[in-house]
Amino acid sequence: MADVRAMCAIGQRGQIGLDGGMPWSGTEGRIYEADVARFFELTQGHVLIAGPTTIASVPAFARKDRTLVTIRSHEQPGEVLARFAGRVVFVGGGPRVWAAYAPYIRLWDINRLPYDGPADRWFDPAWLTAGPPPRGV
Ligand SMILES: NC(=O)c1ccc[n+]([C@@H]2O[C@H](COP(=O)([O-])OP(=O)(O)OC[C@H]3O[C@@H](n4cnc5c(N)ncnc54)[C@H](OP(=O)(O)O)[C@@H]3O)[C@@H](O)[C@H]2O)c1
Repeated sequence: MADVRAMCAIGQRGQIGLDGGMPWSGTEGRIYEADVARFFELTQGHVLIAGPTTIASVPAFARKDRTLVTIRSHEQPGEVLARFAGRVVFVGGGPRVWAAYAPYIRLWDINRLPYDGPADRWFDPAWLTAGPPPRGV
């Protein structure tokens, strides 16, 4: 089985997305830059699975030293993850992807940023207690 992890940056109230990007997009500050740098550092050498928009947003510098995998909603999470036995797999989000893969995620790395503005996508604490995956997958 893969070692399945998620890295998520959230605002003070669980904000995670706005207008298709990060809610704090364009906000300057070392803490925001460090969050992005840490994401690419910790996912280096591993598998990153996410929907097509998120995979397309991975910058050129980060494309060569990790395995990028586009996932679609018709695929079964258990079958996708079975392709990466023995690897560390990061589930890249956003919310619909995390909801579907939550039963498989062993380690959540949640960075709580000092942002307290609007959002249209939110972290759901129920992902952390999703229960085990269905039997046999
Ligand atoms: N704060 C963070 O750490 C963070 C991280 C990632 C994303 N985000 C934010 O999240 C927002 C994007 O969220 P979103 O609501 O558009 O949804 P989303 O969770 O990004 O998912 C939508 C995409 O994922 C694909 N997908 C693959 N497997 C899926 C599955 N089992 N179930 C559902 N979808 C699946 C969908 O494919 P189909 O086209 O086949 O349906 C679709 O293309 C953006 O604002 C982004 O910036 C934030």
